[in-house]
Amino acid sequence: MLNFELYNPTNYVFGKEQITKLTDLVPKNTKILLAYGGGSIFKNGIYDQVKTALSGFEIVEFGGIEPNPRYETLMNAVEIIRAQNIGFILAVGGGSVIDGVKFISAAVKFEGNPMEILKKRMSIKDISQVIPFGTVLTLPATGSEMNSGSVITINETQEKLAFGGSALFPKFSICDPTVIESLPKRQIQNGVVDAFTHVMEQYLTYTHDALLQDRIAESILQTLVEIGPSVVENPTDYKLASNYMWCATMALNGLLNKGVPTDWATHMIGHELTALYEIDHARSLAIIGPNLYRVMFDTKKDKLAQYGERVFGIQGNSVEEKAEKAIEKTVDFLHKMGMLTKLSENTANYENTADFIVARFEERGWKGLGEQQNVTPEKVREIVEMSY
Ligand code: NZQ
Ligand code: ZN
Repeated sequence: MLNFELYNPTNYVFGKEQITKLTDLVPKNTKILLAYGGGSIFKNGIYDQVKTALSGFEIVEFGGIEPNPRYETLMNAVEIIRAQNIGFILAVGGGSVIDGVKFISAAVKFEGNPMEILKKRMSIKDISQVIPFGTVLTLPATGSEMNSGSVITINETQEKLAFGGSALFPKFSICDPTVIESLPKRQIQNGVVDAFTHVMEQYLTYTHDALLQDRIAESILQTLVEIGPSVVENPTDYKLASNYMWCATMALNGLLNKGVPTDWATHMIGHELTALYEIDHARSLAIIGPNLYRVMFDTKKDKLAQYGERVFGIQGNSVEEKAEKAIEKTVDFLHKMGMLTKLSENTANYENTADFIVARFEERGWKGLGEQQNVTPEKVREIVEMSY
């Protein structure tokens, strides 16, 4: 196993009716910025629950954080916090609102142009330089409620860039599985597939000595395969909802990547599809993932075979046969989860996508992504062209 440090200070508050605990979780004697997205919280009653728990607190509201949150929008919140001397932020929403709040938190005291945080993919470590924040999660998918990463889009340059750092863990996250009752089917499908891919990015690499890490990853994958299609149809079933929410958090709260190599190339390429065509994050992963496994077959086939055997119960006469079947099973699962796995099924004008992405990666000096840094620009081209 590789050496590691495991640090996660987020107070994770899980279960029914936990929003009432906000009263004790947010700090007293400071103004709070209540940040949210496009307004779903007004329709499903979450806003009312939050406001009830926070009665008596001084609240400034900031709505309109978009899916794939925009730098330009978030900078308006930065100005409000600076002008009104606000000391705490409460993010109420999905990954986009939480990621947006992480950027706001890092930008308020940043000396210089906050866009640098994104362009330089900074790691923010100094807790005294950020505004503390908590979250009320409304969409299980990204794990942002219990990790310190964030992905922000710059409108002007159509770039989607990741940053983070140990100062950017939420102080607390309230995770009530009943919030999924109001989610559109499409968003539940997205959530399951995003979580599934997070596990794959940290598991589907090469065989190694971290036996427990593999078993934890496989158990999350198996659970998602078991409950994914049904939770989409039955979001009021608490057993399904609670397992879905916990899987999504566990998939990216910093536990799975400890002591093991990680890939993340599917995400890096997928982010470009979202930046270019506004394809939902999870859907971009469903387009790229299986083709990445095909193009990188030689380096991933042993792990693919293990995954196939343990997660799907696949049998076969050779590693290659089992690995190929495992990719097919993955695509079947993605289809069951409502994903369209070809780029052409998601957007009309895709012909120059590979040229564009390869040029961008070269500009950024991304010569080799993946667990062995062998996803070269040529491989990226092959993967993207195979995805048309
Ligand atoms: O904006 P509102 O009106 O709230 O509506 C949202 C939005 O339209 C809606 N929604 C959320 N909760 C709801 C609800 N509608 C009804 N009932 C509810 N309970 O769902 C829509 C999508 O929300 P969004 O937050 O964009 O989705 P998600 O949680 O999938 O987040 C995606 C973003 O997270 C980033 C992605 O790149 C993307 O920008 N990621 C963040 C990661 C991280 N921080 O660790 C890792 C991920 O790989 C990912 O890159
Ligand atoms: Zn993701």
